Amino acid sequence: MPNSCRFRLDGGAILRTRTAVTLSGVLDLFPDTAAVEDGELVLGGIAASTLARDFGTPLVVYCRRTILGQVREYQRVVPEGLVLYGTKAFPNVALLRLFAGEGLGADVSTLGELRFARSAGMPAERIVFHGNNKSDDELRAAAEAEATIVLDAPDEAERAHAAGVTRALIRLTPGVEAHTHQSIQTAHSESKFGLDPDQALATIRDARELVDLAGVHVHIGSQLARADESIAAVDRLLEFCERVRDEHGWLPRIVDIGGGLAIRHSRDENAPSVAAFAGALVGRFRAGWTEPVWFYLEPGRSLIGRAGVTLYRVGATKRSGGVEYVAFDGGMSDNPRPQLYGARYEALLANRADEPATGVFRIAGKHCESGDVLIDGARLPAPRRDDLLAVPATGAYTLAMASTYNGVPRPAAVLVADGAAQLIRRRETIDELLSFEPDV
Ligand SMILES: Cc1ncc(COP(=O)(O)O)c(C=O)c1O
Repeated sequence: MPNSCRFRLDGGAILRTRTAVTLSGVLDLFPDTAAVEDGELVLGGIAASTLARDFGTPLVVYCRRTILGQVREYQRVVPEGLVLYGTKAFPNVALLRLFAGEGLGADVSTLGELRFARSAGMPAERIVFHGNNKSDDELRAAAEAEATIVLDAPDEAERAHAAGVTRALIRLTPGVEAHTHQSIQTAHSESKFGLDPDQALATIRDARELVDLAGVHVHIGSQLARADESIAAVDRLLEFCERVRDEHGWLPRIVDIGGGLAIRHSRDENAPSVAAFAGALVGRFRAGWTEPVWFYLEPGRSLIGRAGVTLYRVGATKRSGGVEYVAFDGGMSDNPRPQLYGARYEALLANRADEPATGVFRIAGKHCESGDVLIDGARLPAPRRDDLLAVPATGAYTLAMASTYNGVPRPAAVLVADGAAQLIRRRETIDELLSFEPDV
């Protein structure tokens, strides 16, 4: 193939320097197997156009190698711990099955997430059930599944005991404000999650009579781009553990430090490595506590976020008041993060990935709101109808938060590896949406 150009991040040849420089910056945001071959984006050894042809668009493509790389990194950094996948990032049976096979557990927070984990064959002893308002049904289901629950309210130990729960952790709210969007801060002093130190202490005193209280939990927020506040939370957790030991003679066997590690959605964002984040937190706790403990970690976004790329088909393009609009066949129904958290993304034209940018475009969805903008200011070669738009870092909290706004069915997802694609979430149909309507 004399004219073929191939750019890889993982050590492959970079043949055309100018384009490669532009690409390598963006490709950093893509999964490990992302490459540009003959001008086209390839994921897991499959051309984006082939994936779009075979599965339609919008399509979320997950790279198996990237997911497994993150799993192994967590296991390497915290060998004395259990990694629980934060199921909320994308409740999906195939991914949960993959994680179960790698020895991971699952953090679930609803009946639905518990069913997904159980359907994937996740062993009971590796399921932790969260929630700031667990229903009696949820407590009974957790008991039946023999999962560990995380106490999150003063009356929950009693209710859990009545429901048959036998094992619990307690969620401490350390009063730390995470540096992230306020909607995903979870451990500040007015948080709806967990118990402040005084309430947690009182709850431990009473709960020990009712359940096997195995340990403590903290989770200060999500998309944490630095470790400072998490380290401060670990310091407060240490103070708390000393206090409970001194006042009640209770020692945690398990210390669950939650999830929260950020990923980069755009080139100007930073994210610590697993070692610089999880390794630092565990190291801090170890340095201040000499009793034996086993660590739990609950990463969601950092396990699957960068592994996911969403493929969209470009439709109408137009100029409006000096803005170059590019519309695509999805939007806030398949990824509401720009509207919810002001998330900023970048994109490639997957079928023209080696062309230089020629302009700045506002990438808008198809929904009936002007705020349905996925990227404002994408630098791209001028997109044309039927081009394929590839948006990286869309594996977490996208499909999981998808809606059917405007009667749009939710997209499909595939897992790719070594040139093969496995459908892991079928595309919803309009008939399925109509089936909820009793009059049809
Ligand atoms: C208790 C708990 N654990 C783990 C997670 C996963 O967080 P992330 O996806 O940011 O790693 C969350 C999400 O906010 C959470 O609430």
